Formats: sequence, C-alpha cells, structure tokens
Amino acid sequence: MAEPETEGTDISLRAAEVASDVSETDKPQEQRRLASRFTRAVTSGARAAGRGTRAGIASVAGFRGLAGNGAYCASKAAAITWLESLRTELYGSGVSVVCVCPGYIDTPMTRVNRYRMPFLLPPDEAARRIARAIAARRRLAVIPWQMAAVSVLLRAMPGWLYDRLAARAPRKPRDVRI
Ligand SMILES: NC(=O)c1ccc[n+]([C@@H]2O[C@H](COP(=O)([O-])OP(=O)(O)OC[C@H]3O[C@@H](n4cnc5c(N)ncnc54)[C@H](OP(=O)(O)O)[C@@H]3O)[C@@H](O)[C@H]2O)c1
Repeated sequence: MAEPETEGTDISLRAAEVASDVSETDKPQEQRRLASRFTRAVTSGARAAGRGTRAGIASVAGFRGLAGNGAYCASKAAAITWLESLRTELYGSGVSVVCVCPGYIDTPMTRVNRYRMPFLLPPDEAARRIARAIAARRRLAVIPWQMAAVSVLLRAMPGWLYDRLAARAPRKPRDVRI
C-alpha cells in the first residue's frame, strides 16, 4: 500500500493498529515494517510544511505493561515515546505533534473482550474527543478524563504494588505459551 503524501496537509493522523499478542505483529520483522511505515507517513515533509498537526493514536495501555498484552503495550509505549521525540525535534517549526491515549472504545478490537471495561466510550463520542484534542494541539491527551485520572495513579504506583494488582487483572486469552 502506498503511503499518503503528507506535506502540505493540515492534519495527519495515524491510527492503524492490531491488538493481539498472538498475531503476525509479534514477529519482529513485521513490527519493524509497521514501525517504519508509521515513521515515514508521520514525518514525511513535516519540517518543510512548517505548519499543521501530526497525530498518533497510542493508548493508556502504553503507560504500564499488562499481562497477556505485552506486544500491544510495548508498541503503544513506543508510540508515546516516539511521538514525544518527534515533538521535541519539530519544536519551533510550526508543526504540532499530538499523542492521543484512549482508554476503552467500543470497537471490533474491544468487542472480543470478556471482561468489564471501565469508562468505555462509544466510537462516535471517542472520535469527537480525539478530534477536539487534535484541534487543540494537545501534547498528550488521555481520553476520557476518568482514564486520565486512573493513568496518573497507575504511572505513580510503585512496581511492587502494580505487579500484585496487575497480575490479578482480567486479560485477553493468550495462545502463545510463556
Ligand atoms: N478500541 C479501543 O479501546 C482502543 C483503545 C486505545 C487505543 N486504541 C487504538 O485506536 C486505534 C484504532 O483501533 P480500533 O479500536 O478502531 O481497532 P479496530 O476496530 O480493530 O480497527 C483497527 C483498524 O486498523 C486497521 N489496520 C490494522 N493493521 C493495519 C495496517 N497494517 N495497515 C493499515 N491499517 C491497518 C484495520 O484495517 P482493516 O479493517 O482493513 O483490517 C482497522 O481499520 C488503534 O491504534 C488502537 O490501538 C483503541
């Protein structure tokens, strides 16, 4: 698939993702391929454009590791850090870089989950909030705000306590034995 030319566009948003620990994305070569496509598409022509917004959809899952979801959490942690690097690299260039970290959104990705998903957003409401965050050029937007509060707690939690709580949390089924 050819990458879109983003130079001269006002807003470029990358959201493609797969959420499974047992899919092709667990293969290192596939992860590298996806990462390099993401990088090319978001950065192409950014500095020359001198304006506009580049946004990426990461996730609250990128803040701490979740059992059974390692590849997804790692890819989202990478997205958060990478977007931050890009933001600092483009600082002062006129181009904004926005990192959106949603909690749970009701989409095909989450409809397979057999556990309660707190603060689940309908997709149209999530889209509205994501659009608002991008329009406001927020550096890091966690949606909804309740998830932002949970994220602050999670990030501040000491490792020993996090391990105990996270080990008991519900998880996606894993068919790769570890
Ligand atoms: N749903 C949530 O609760 C939630 C929470 C936090 C973050 N997110 C993030 O939000 C984004 C959208 O997720 P979603 O919930 O809408 O998931 P989804 O319903 O599973 O949709 C994923 C989308 O990504 C596309 N995609 C997957 N791999 C791709 C690739 N290699 N190249 C191009 N497109 C690809 C899929 O296209 P096809 O349909 O053509 O395969 C599909 O449209 C993802 O980045 C996800 O991680 C979702």
